[in-house]
Amino acid sequence: MSKQNVVLIGFMGSGKSTIGKKLSRVLNYRLLDTDAMIEERQGKKISEIFAQDGEAAFREAETELLEYLLQKEEHCIIATGGGMPLRPENAEYLHKIGTVILLDASPKTILERLKDDTTRPLLMGDNKEEKVNTLYQERLPKYTAAADCVVHTDDKSFYGILNEIETFYRNKKHEK
Ligand code: S3P
Repeated sequence: MSKQNVVLIGFMGSGKSTIGKKLSRVLNYRLLDTDAMIEERQGKKISEIFAQDGEAAFREAETELLEYLLQKEEHCIIATGGGMPLRPENAEYLHKIGTVILLDASPKTILERLKDDTTRPLLMGDNKEEKVNTLYQERLPKYTAAADCVVHTDDKSFYGILNEIETFYRNKKHEK
């Protein structure tokens, strides 16, 4: 049985932080952001961790953080980094930590939102469009497999998205 947290997963730019903030008000849950927690624990920005220690070190830090969240946190909205569900052990942790909601946005929407972004190491350099398309296709099956509920966000209002998540979460809690 999972704990009483809502875990938001999804591609970079899918709206996890923005929806997370609003959802934390709706449910009166505390908002946690795994990228921000890792930055605080390591005392450096995600881009510095990637540049200085490599992606593998960052992925290790993500798994360690999930171990901590599983022990410690309840009644939180947890907005995760876009790569969090990719390791099989992480997907298992996420399920134990809470109800896992996939926020899905199309590559077109993602590109529009991230066109001027310089904070995501995986999308730096040439041909952002190809990078987003390739990563999105690779990751979608894993995201879907890790999720209890998939919310398609393109062309939906914040209200519609929040309502969908809240309804799913309250029903799931009720079933237990
Ligand atoms: C990543 C997504 C980022 C951050 C890091 C790696 C990914 O988080 O964790 O740059 O692998 O998709 P956001 O999804 O919040 O951008």
